[in-house]
Amino acid sequence: MTGKILVLGASGHVGRPLVKELLARGEAVKAASRSGAPIEGAEGVAFAFDRPETYAAAFEGVDRAYVLLPGGITTPREWLIPVIEAAAARKVKVVLQTALGVDADDSIPYRQVELALIASGTPYVILRPNWFTDNFLNFWKPGIDHAGAIAVPAGEGKSSFIDGRDIAASAASALTTDAFDNKAFNLTGPEALSYAEAAALLAQVIGKPVAYAPVDDDTFVGILTGAGIGEDYARFLASIFYPVREGWTAGVTDAVKTLTGKEPRSVAQWAQDHAAALRA
Ligand SMILES: NC(=O)c1ccc[n+]([C@@H]2O[C@H](COP(=O)([O-])OP(=O)(O)OC[C@H]3O[C@@H](n4cnc5c(N)ncnc54)[C@H](OP(=O)(O)O)[C@@H]3O)[C@@H](O)[C@H]2O)c1
Repeated sequence: MTGKILVLGASGHVGRPLVKELLARGEAVKAASRSGAPIEGAEGVAFAFDRPETYAAAFEGVDRAYVLLPGGITTPREWLIPVIEAAAARKVKVVLQTALGVDADDSIPYRQVELALIASGTPYVILRPNWFTDNFLNFWKPGIDHAGAIAVPAGEGKSSFIDGRDIAASAASALTTDAFDNKAFNLTGPEALSYAEAAALLAQVIGKPVAYAPVDDDTFVGILTGAGIGEDYARFLASIFYPVREGWTAGVTDAVKTLTGKEPRSVAQWAQDHAAALRA
């Protein structure tokens, strides 16, 4: 593998640590964002999923690509399949990030993207992360700051939250060796915690009470739309808490260890490492 690695969503939650990890491994990286600005010192390239005219320049000189759906988008087939087709036409290996559980049913749109990639004939690795630990900072911190609570429709369900750095490290391994080609991995953290257990851990680090407030879907959608999130995406987010309530996100896998050689980080470790941002 001598070409460059294209990282889509390179300014985002997984993309940015992935760019850093790949540069640290000595890879040549093209960091894609809508602005095309350099990211973490990597060459930047302007790319927009919904502007196919940007694809050719992004794939120029590339033999591997990390493909993910930006948050806030509810139509993965429309956004991702054209990119997969562009990669396959150039024989570019695709490491595709989807989400834990999407392979439960072939009618799930995200699963159809996975199937399109498998059928494309280009080398691939599929990574299906569980709920990101980083959501406590990226999504749930405003509720912690304003109401001292994490209000989500998770019931008593547990999730094996995964640290974004472990997703990035897993992705870097999948991109830099062919040992994992044509396989799918369900990425999880080392243990399953309920939202009440996670809130208690965060409270210790922040130094003030953090409650878990289980809410119903409509209340959750109201909170999100009140914070400026579109109704469609808010409803979509509410819907994906159903598997949490059912206990389907509680499983723990050894995929991070298999891919990276290291145990995944715990929620407690993540909270310690992000203490300053959590307290800010
Ligand atoms: N959060 C979770 O718990 C979780 C769990 C499992 C799976 N996932 C999956 O992970 C995905 C999100 O990953 P993430 O959090 O790393 O992504 P992200 O940070 O939400 O988005 C990545 C980047 O996409 C770019 N972007 C937005 N619109 C774009 C467009 N039209 N064309 C090109 N780039 C665009 C943005 O960069 P610019 O503004 O710089 O262009 C953004 O920084 C979700 O869609 C979901 O499928 C999430």
